[in-house]
Amino acid sequence: MEILGNFAVFEGGDGSGTSTQLALLKDKFAARRRKPPPFFPTAEPAEGPIGRIIRSALKNNPVLQPDTLARLFAADRGEHLYASDGIVERCKRGELVICDRYVLSSLVYQGIECGEDLPRSLNSAFPAPELLLFFDIDPQIAQERLHSRPSLEIYEHLEFQKKVRKHYHALLGEYRDAGVRVEIIDAAQSVEKAAAEVWSYVSQMPILR
Ligand code: TYD
Repeated sequence: MEILGNFAVFEGGDGSGTSTQLALLKDKFAARRRKPPPFFPTAEPAEGPIGRIIRSALKNNPVLQPDTLARLFAADRGEHLYASDGIVERCKRGELVICDRYVLSSLVYQGIECGEDLPRSLNSAFPAPELLLFFDIDPQIAQERLHSRPSLEIYEHLEFQKKVRKHYHALLGEYRDAGVRVEIIDAAQSVEKAAAEVWSYVSQMPILR
């Protein structure tokens, strides 16, 4: 597995707080007095045309076959990585890129829906991040957080999220073995405490030392 330097990802079940933590990290960078390297927080599904189709399909409009979604997630990721000003170009020119969800989301979510072979083959050529933070939370607690949102997406129900957590735990070891730094954040603790843990790991990336 090729590892892309200056690249970190946040992973976790729905309602685990990855988006909140990435937004906090962005504020932290903006407030730093010592001049930091350029910071590019981003997320998948990405903002382009393929990401837009995916976001609609996550609301079941249109209803797409699980295999189609697996292919769309991988196509979206390919653009996100390799487009001009994409993740790879930015990391290589010395920016810090942190992405909310990446390949492991496909191996977990589409792995549950389609079996593991399709998402594995669709994602096999993509580089791994240097740092992977997994936001771990009891799906029951995460589900309570999600229910305060206006509408739920196709994967946001308890039975599915229980499988998601199991699959994440089963796959983290592969990344460790491949040389990725993998850390588990307790996502049930307060937002402030989780943010402090996130910073303790991110600040140890070579680009920030
Ligand atoms: P999420 O980060 O939850 O977005 P938001 O907070 O805006 O709703 O991501 C959307 C959903 O997409 C989430 O349920 C996980 C799922 N997903 C996959 O199934 N496969 C993938 O490869 C990615 C990136 C996301």
